[in-house]
Amino acid sequence: MIETSAKEPEYDDAAIRFLAVLWGEGYLSPGGPEEVDRVLAGIDLSGKTVLDLGCGAGGITLHIARTHHPVEITGFDVELPVIEAARRAADAACFSDRVSFIQAVPGKLPFADGSFDIVFSKDALVHVADKEAIFRDIFRVLKPGGVFAASDWLIGHDGEPSAEMRDYLAAEGLSFGMASAARYLSAMRAAGLVNAKAESRNVWYRDVARQELARLQGPLHAAAVAAVGEPYIEKNIRTWTAMQKVLDTGEHCPTHLRGEKPGGSAS
Ligand SMILES: C[S@@+](CC[C@H](N)C(=O)[O-])C[C@H]1O[C@@H](n2cnc3c(N)ncnc32)[C@H](O)[C@@H]1O
Repeated sequence: MIETSAKEPEYDDAAIRFLAVLWGEGYLSPGGPEEVDRVLAGIDLSGKTVLDLGCGAGGITLHIARTHHPVEITGFDVELPVIEAARRAADAACFSDRVSFIQAVPGKLPFADGSFDIVFSKDALVHVADKEAIFRDIFRVLKPGGVFAASDWLIGHDGEPSAEMRDYLAAEGLSFGMASAARYLSAMRAAGLVNAKAESRNVWYRDVARQELARLQGPLHAAAVAAVGEPYIEKNIRTWTAMQKVLDTGEHCPTHLRGEKPGGSAS
């Protein structure tokens, strides 16, 4: 069902170090805490149980624990280096009582039915090709009345990727299984989620990505090279340059997603 292998991590220690320079400590996706808060806007997490699906190195999980006050938040990821980094960060922040991190191979989520009030995810579902299966599983682990709130990297259409998109995907070299908003919404609704919504963040990220590339080539260059070496940074400058083209055409479409599991109160 899912391509990412637990044996050969795509987000290894070098990726974690590089992305910390660019996006902030423990963040493997753009936008920082402000973008996380935007994904969660209007949702009261206090006293709730939360799953951070595809939590990466845990920066976002800890931000949610620190500022949104869930009773418990579980970070889940399929790769071990990110989970180990997340556990170290949680220990250092003395958050280990309310925050836990679980790693398991891709497949059915290792949680009982109805475990969480909120399933949150930031830019991780792009790695899951079978959108229908992952949304069935998200629906399963949500409590009745629970909320799914996410950001993800979508493609702007259901056709074949353009030559520019193929160049970008090759430069990125990650196991992306991009799908359109129509496909996501249909998978969410088919799983049983109601009030399913998608909000494009393309306009926001196309400007942010341009600034990221400029910072990588300018003020951040020395720190990034010190973290991971020159060839790694040159490769990523090529990736960002390719990404900018498909952001500017709208084919690469970061998107916020929402849906609800019908039923009783999530509290
Ligand atoms: C771009 S990173 C985002 C990490 C984190 N959410 C963040 O924003 O900092 C994508 C994450 O998804 C994870 N991932 C890939 N396939 C997954 C799957 N099938 N289930 C859960 N997580 C997965 C990767 O290991 C990686 O940590």
